[in-house]
Amino acid sequence: MNSNRRHFIKSVTAASALIATGSVAKPFNIIRDLKKISPNDKIRFATIGMGIQGNQDTKAALRGAPDAEFVAAADLYDGRLTHVKEAYGKDIFTTRDYRKILERKDIDAVLVVTPDHWHDHITKASLLAGKHVYCEKPMVQHIDEGKSVIDAWKKSGKTMQIGSQRISSASFKEAKRLFQAGEIGDINYVESNNDRFNSLGAWNYSIPTDASLTTLDWDTFLGDAPKTPFDAKRFFRWRNYKDYGTGVAGDLFVHLITGVHFVTNSLGPERIFSSGELSYWKDGRDVPDVLVSILEYPKTDLHSNFQMVLRVNFANAGAIANNTRIIGTEGQIEFTENNLILTKKKLAKAPGYGGYDSFGTFSASEQKEFEKQYNAQYAADTRKADPVKEVRFEAPKEDDAHANHFRDFFENVKKGTLGTVEDPVFGFRAAAPVLACNDSYFKKKIINWDPVEMKIKK
Ligand SMILES: NC(=O)c1ccc[n+]([C@@H]2O[C@H](COP(=O)([O-])OP(=O)(O)OC[C@H]3O[C@@H](n4cnc5c(N)ncnc54)[C@H](O)[C@@H]3O)[C@@H](O)[C@H]2O)c1
Repeated sequence: MNSNRRHFIKSVTAASALIATGSVAKPFNIIRDLKKISPNDKIRFATIGMGIQGNQDTKAALRGAPDAEFVAAADLYDGRLTHVKEAYGKDIFTTRDYRKILERKDIDAVLVVTPDHWHDHITKASLLAGKHVYCEKPMVQHIDEGKSVIDAWKKSGKTMQIGSQRISSASFKEAKRLFQAGEIGDINYVESNNDRFNSLGAWNYSIPTDASLTTLDWDTFLGDAPKTPFDAKRFFRWRNYKDYGTGVAGDLFVHLITGVHFVTNSLGPERIFSSGELSYWKDGRDVPDVLVSILEYPKTDLHSNFQMVLRVNFANAGAIANNTRIIGTEGQIEFTENNLILTKKKLAKAPGYGGYDSFGTFSASEQKEFEKQYNAQYAADTRKADPVKEVRFEAPKEDDAHANHFRDFFENVKKGTLGTVEDPVFGFRAAAPVLACNDSYFKKKIINWDPVEMKIKK
């Protein structure tokens, strides 16, 4: 890496971390000659990939920025293009070929909501064509694709946001505020999980009856993936295959880790190890449905070292309580997108004695001597712990994380700034470790990651 590039990446890193803390209101501003969109102008956007999330994103974008205008959509399956006209208006321009959208000068921004293997290609082409980009998570399908997306973003001077929208929820913002205020002392452990037990939850989405080589563009769908004969399951349930998706780690761990990085300002782990299996959904998929990963986070200026355990179990027929628990030396923050419980617990200075302890096994004279010394050493006020405190937070009913995430994107587009709450540096620092969780599982080895330089360590 040349020194200019290293300098840039360091600047981006620092700016990205500052933006993520929320403590710096200044926009991220490395490239200054950005074309600003006047606050009175409508932002015209197109969605590339009008499947399940493409529709969710399009609606959230319109809720988040009512002055944004949805003008075009690309998708490879005709039924979804027909749905666009039915749901959003017959004047929306629709095409199978996303490049037709990129050619249009009247489109300011695109939402990239395709399967994961297309993210890097369409994002880079969009930036090159001068579009602002909202790209779904995980930012890339493979670790070695990350730097080229960051470089393309830097060169473009355009605004970019990655789509782990939960970090724009009131609850995650409250978790961050409490953590940064030191409410749980020094962090030492995080656990976060996203279990499911139903067929749709395990990605077996409905396949339309008219799916065929006539109604969809199979060759383009394959993209840089290996050539395979047409298979509607692969097209509509692409998450089940390594060729197009990123397994439970890229699909779900990425939300969990993004939340933890947002709250702690961490740049990422150094060592990553996974264990997993295909336990229940033996339906032809080639990715595990149970995955547990341990990620070791080093101490930084912003937090102490900690361990993180991430879990997805698609065959959890037991009780499911999906949340994130960040544990420190003085308490824990347990949170979801909608609520949060802070529990504060501080130890008394005096260690105590008696009960389940060796004290009762001492001779009578030794017990007396021990007590004498203990009383001399520990004054009465050091013997009581503060009572355990619990603080609960409920997100306001109207809180709409998805819309907030888009509002942040569109506001930065209008300001003419690159940075967003989840810019590509932040996005890659979340994506790479979870992709490494997959590598660890498939290669059966520990993956070493450099979270500052953002590269695999040998
Ligand atoms: N942020 C979130 O909470 C969240 C939730 C779900 C999905 N996602 C992400 O959104 C993306 C899409 O997931 P989905 O569930 O909507 O998948 P989906 O299969 O429902 O939709 C994907 C669509 O992309 C289209 N497509 C594929 N290649 C294309 C190309 N080259 N050009 C144009 N269109 C193309 C397909 O025709 C399909 O309709 C994934 O990256 C996924 O990880 C994010």
